[in-house]
Amino acid sequence: MSLMKDYINEAENDLLHTYNRYPVVFDHGEGVRLFDIEGKSYLDFVSGIAVFALGYGNKAYNDALKSQIDKIIHTSNYYYNVPAIEAAKAVKKVSGMDRVFFTNSGAEAVEGAIKTARKYAYLKDGRTDHEIIAMEHSFHGRTFGALSVTGNPKYREAFEPMIGNIRFARYNDLESVKALVNDKTCAVILETVQGEGGIHPATEEFLKGIRALCDEHDMLMILDEIQCGMGRTGEYFAWQRFGVKPDVMTSAKALGCGVPVGAFMMTEKVGQHSLVAGDHGTTYGGNPLGGAAICEVIRQFEEKDIPGHVKTTGEYLYKRLDEVAAKHSDIIEHRGVGFMQGLEFDHPVADIINRALEKGVVLINAGTNILRILPPLVVEKSDIDEMIDILEQVI
Ligand SMILES: Cc1ncc(COP(=O)(O)O)c(C=O)c1O
Repeated sequence: MSLMKDYINEAENDLLHTYNRYPVVFDHGEGVRLFDIEGKSYLDFVSGIAVFALGYGNKAYNDALKSQIDKIIHTSNYYYNVPAIEAAKAVKKVSGMDRVFFTNSGAEAVEGAIKTARKYAYLKDGRTDHEIIAMEHSFHGRTFGALSVTGNPKYREAFEPMIGNIRFARYNDLESVKALVNDKTCAVILETVQGEGGIHPATEEFLKGIRALCDEHDMLMILDEIQCGMGRTGEYFAWQRFGVKPDVMTSAKALGCGVPVGAFMMTEKVGQHSLVAGDHGTTYGGNPLGGAAICEVIRQFEEKDIPGHVKTTGEYLYKRLDEVAAKHSDIIEHRGVGFMQGLEFDHPVADIINRALEKGVVLINAGTNILRILPPLVVEKSDIDEMIDILEQVI
């Protein structure tokens, strides 16, 4: 038996089986390539599901983390620390939001956003029966609040009851949102580009419509930018493509490029009328190591103009995937923007992904029939050509 098979067998004995994993054990990476423990190289078009944006083995990033580790990794949110203060400043600069709360994951950022919305509404009318409108086919994470606003019944069913008072509208269908608004509605939450639900970008009209609706009823517009944010669509955050600013937004994944961090941010108005001392907390969120990661990620994004690179190279990716879609009648639709694109097939894509992996290209699905393309944000046109060659072979 190979070393890899041995490890996979051990994993299947010891780890809780909550994932159907692909048969590979990765060991290290360089740029846009991953290497397994037997030395085979793979071109990565998943980036750890939209996380490792900067490419593997990034020396400046590694050095920034090492130097912070040598200084101090953790203190507590009862004290100030410079990396978190600098990180908050950097996040504010690229997001245009005013107040930041750091978390350890995306789901936890969504929890914070939901609590913010409920508290904002509670302070206005003292009611405790507020409703939130979420979207069908959305994905916001696996903790209870995040799961409650996740519009895929398959993920929720066995764990009912959810947190309650959540209504689901149809994505990109403003009338279906309007139909659910009543005097108890305190927020509308949506991904600016739906990721797990199959790579569906919100239309400009839909986002602007929700903004107007939220303004009209003093409800909070919450945009989940955990997957589509941090440069992936060619702007720091996907809503910046349309200039529709949310009241509250979430980020995670590429925000720390692998160090587990997230954040929920809000406008000053919401910050002044929602969570106060004692309302919310975290042991690890915003610790010096996480703060150092965020600072270095944003520093490199600015230095290298990563969003600009995604904008231009993402158009190339779009063109190449369009060519693929035109050639294959089993591809129903090609969707997406920047480095967040999807090909919807009329059959499951697991075989395509497995064959690509054998040939040294890492791809992933979204749902059963959608092939999701989420490369590190530093891929070049030549990497895209290489991926497309293999994709053509395995389709
Ligand atoms: C849009 C969106 N929100 C929330 C989450 C949950 O993030 P995490 O897995 O870090 O809890 C994800 C993860 O895929 C996501 O794509």
